[in-house]
Amino acid sequence: MNQITAALLAWYDRCARVLPWRGIHDAYRTWVSEAMLQQTRVETVLSYYPRFLERFPTLPSLASASEEDVLKAWEGLGYYSRARNLWKGAKQVVDEYGGILPRDPEKLRRICGIGPYSAGAISSIAYDVPVPAVDGNVIRVISRLYGIRTDALEKETHGRIEKLAAGLVPADRPGDHNQAVMDLGATVCVPGTPDCNRCPLSSFCEAFHAGDAAELPVLPKAKPQKVIPYTVLLILSSGRVLMRMRTEKLLQGLWCFPMIEGQHSPEELQSLIRNILRLSTGTPVDSGDTRHVFTHRIWQMHICKTSAEAEASAPAGYEFIPLEKLKDLPLPAAMNAAVSVLRHQA
Ligand code: ADE
Repeated sequence: MNQITAALLAWYDRCARVLPWRGIHDAYRTWVSEAMLQQTRVETVLSYYPRFLERFPTLPSLASASEEDVLKAWEGLGYYSRARNLWKGAKQVVDEYGGILPRDPEKLRRICGIGPYSAGAISSIAYDVPVPAVDGNVIRVISRLYGIRTDALEKETHGRIEKLAAGLVPADRPGDHNQAVMDLGATVCVPGTPDCNRCPLSSFCEAFHAGDAAELPVLPKAKPQKVIPYTVLLILSSGRVLMRMRTEKLLQGLWCFPMIEGQHSPEELQSLIRNILRLSTGTPVDSGDTRHVFTHRIWQMHICKTSAEAEASAPAGYEFIPLEKLKDLPLPAAMNAAVSVLRHQA
């Protein structure tokens, strides 16, 4: 085993975070944890992971659930395509592999929702296959360790990082090694302010010796998110509120209140509701502002409330949902403020 790997594993044995998806050999559980951990902090995942597994304890139980139930269990975690892909992938594993995830990373990569990172994580952690699992943490650790100063997401450099990461994975304990790199990246070799004094790899680290660890990895400049103004409409009728299950890629399968792009006067809104939703309502009343930040955009939302006639019928593509049923539907966090307006004022 090379010296870097040995130093890292010795550090992991002393400092590993105690996490509920560790120390188990169950590929389904590893898959769930890795799907949740992509894009989401460990602290957040800690509350979702046990609840999700209580609801769907085995891969076949997930495969036979409804999409809506899976989205409900994922509610609040964000990036809902992860949940939908996990569910579709589980069906695929039942059909093609009798419900048991394969150990070969090439086979894993052909399953819906499993990319190169997850394939490496599942193979190494659940099945002890010596392959790397390259995520943002690994890119940072490897870029610093080997002093890589070209765009880490550009194809050639990324390939180099993958090769270097693969070169460190030991035949013995590959899963622990991969998780050690993740822990190092999350707790010591952090973005912007690496704590090199506490790092078990500093003596091997090119960037530490050069003094530019804080500046690495080199990443392309993120484009600023586009801010989109919306009016969110709470339209009530006989103890029900008008909603729509989204079919767009963003938040697909989640339920939202009707949204109209732009800011409008109450009178304009009333006529937009009549013309677009074919509902006659009172004049909408301002009920506050909120915003929700997505990866590439920001919804700047103005919430307005109004009432349609009693027992009004919903327009095509919409449904009037009884208020007491709201808690059973998967709603995105972007709707939280509007839901609390309903709770406090309905
Ligand atoms: N981030 C992604 N996968 C992880 C894991 N298995 N443990 C800790 N952090 C992670």
